[in-house]
Amino acid sequence: MVKIIAVLGGKGGCGKSTCSIGLSLALAEQKQRVLLIDLDEGMRCLDMLLGVSEKLLFDVSDAINGRDLASCILQVPGGEGLSLLAAPGEKGLIDAKLLAGFLENIPNSMFDTVVLDLRAGSDLQLYRALPPYTEFLCICNPNAVSVRDAANIGTLLNKANRKGKIILNRYQRYFIKNPVFSTLDDIIDESGLMLLGIVPESERLSLAFLEGNYKIKGKAKKAFKRIALRLCGRNIPLPKLKKI
Ligand SMILES: Nc1ncnc2c1ncn2[C@@H]1O[C@H](COP(=O)(O)OP(=O)(O)OP(=O)(O)O)[C@@H](O)[C@H]1O
Ligand SMILES: [Mg+2]
Repeated sequence: MVKIIAVLGGKGGCGKSTCSIGLSLALAEQKQRVLLIDLDEGMRCLDMLLGVSEKLLFDVSDAINGRDLASCILQVPGGEGLSLLAAPGEKGLIDAKLLAGFLENIPNSMFDTVVLDLRAGSDLQLYRALPPYTEFLCICNPNAVSVRDAANIGTLLNKANRKGKIILNRYQRYFIKNPVFSTLDDIIDESGLMLLGIVPESERLSLAFLEGNYKIKGKAKKAFKRIALRLCGRNIPLPKLKKI
């Protein structure tokens, strides 16, 4: 069975695509064969961010409708072990049930892990349709609006009988030390979701987005590595907050 990780988040721009790429590359570095799937239909971006848009012929809607998977995937240059299935250029082409059936049938001779980059907002129907063993990772920024979104998503995941964890993205110490959230625990309690990891605010990640080059170094890379190792079942403690 191929492991499925769904990256989601309430508000647009919280870093779903950034974290999907960062995590996929980190998993690939752990020798996982990773298929990253862009599910932001109509607003696809991963093909561009990973520098393969000119090679794009078929997308995930073709694959779920029966086209040979090997002909739809794009190899990510410089990301050994990482393949991409791009999103369709228009909305309404991804049927949730067909997608779920497709995911369940991805052969583990081809991939170990599938990372789904979901579009902004919540989608109870999709959460219910995805295979029950899907791991949902909610991307949350350290501000009250984003934390409330994460709590809403947590409620919907419960309704769908699915479990989720949060990744706190764009972490900066001064965001935590404010009157709304004075500690990290406040954010975790308010969101109602377990914390999987913290990704710092990183100029390198902003630049990667602009330049389409995610070969980053430094704290953000280390943060994605820690999260990837936890997803692989390793017990990696959270470092001291000032080191994140
Ligand atoms: N940890 C970070 N440090 C610095 N910039 C970040 C970080 N995470 C995301 N960003 C920036 O935030 C912007 C939005 O990121 P991204 O596209 O990943 O969000 P998204 O949630 O996928 O958005 P959408 O809802 O439009 O799909 C980008 O410019 C990206 O570089
Ligand atoms: Mg996105």
